[in-house]
Amino acid sequence: MLTKELEKILINKALEARDNSYSPYSKFPVGAALLTKNDEIFIGTNVENSSIGLTICAERSAICAAVSNGDREFRTLVVAGPLDEPVSPCGACRQFMCEFGDFEVIIYSENEIIRTTTKKLLPLDFKLEL
Ligand code: THU
Repeated sequence: MLTKELEKILINKALEARDNSYSPYSKFPVGAALLTKNDEIFIGTNVENSSIGLTICAERSAICAAVSNGDREFRTLVVAGPLDEPVSPCGACRQFMCEFGDFEVIIYSENEIIRTTTKKLLPLDFKLEL
């Protein structure tokens, strides 16, 4: 569990990232902030493309930023959509999160904050057993 202070910091980081969203097609900005187990914070936003299917969501952007920095152990991901109600992570992002284990996910909105985990969001995640 996060302290309220740290949760507030992460929410603000997710909102800052949301301000940088590149979403000219959907006009649906999303921001994410990811706290790692060694107390680093990585942010991500959704980045769209003329070739619509190439869009990357905020959650996956934040995870890619952390992994690119050598961090793969996560504590909490905060996601903030543009609505007054929570914007729940898409299926692709749920699978992407579960790759890195069971960690806390906070879905922030003005009216409601949902506190859940990756495993609750995607109980039967795909695992490649080689
Ligand atoms: N989006 C996210 O960034 N995260 C989600 O979990 C849901 C959807 C973005 C993708 C696209 O740029 C826009 O929201 C509308 O689908």
